Amino acid sequence: MSSIVPTDLTDTHWQALRELAVEAMTRAYAPYSRFKVGAAALVDDGRLVSGCNVENASYGVTLCAECGLVSELIRTGGGRLVAFACVDAHGRACAPCGRCRQLLNEHAADGMVLAMPSGMMSIDEVLPDRFTAADVERVVGQQS
Ligand code: THU
Repeated sequence: MSSIVPTDLTDTHWQALRELAVEAMTRAYAPYSRFKVGAAALVDDGRLVSGCNVENASYGVTLCAECGLVSELIRTGGGRLVAFACVDAHGRACAPCGRCRQLLNEHAADGMVLAMPSGMMSIDEVLPDRFTAADVERVVGQQS
């Protein structure tokens, strides 16, 4: 079976992603910020993965919703993320933080699309000139 690519994305995919993100948001554990987040993504094999934020009394230990999503991605077999949606408590599109853009990029399909508050954007647009495995390899790969 051929992989799903960003040009295959339809309104049906985005509707399913928004619904799953809202459902994930209702599970958020956010007693400190009281800002609940749900995230959902479509994997190139058709799977849907999701996550919610999980806060901690030691604030810096907080896990963003994207952390749970990426953990589920890996636990359920890996693959590349084709489309991503993140919502706040009102079900409105929420921008992934900078750290989570990096986290998502590691597993992104070429041209992955994100539903941002300002509209659809590609991973290249939300994280230009990014640090990747190639940057690591350029240095570490040359060491004997
Ligand atoms: N948060 C996420 O879950 N994902 C993001 O990309 C942005 C921020 C969470 C972390 C914290 O629990 C709450 O939103 C307020 O910052």
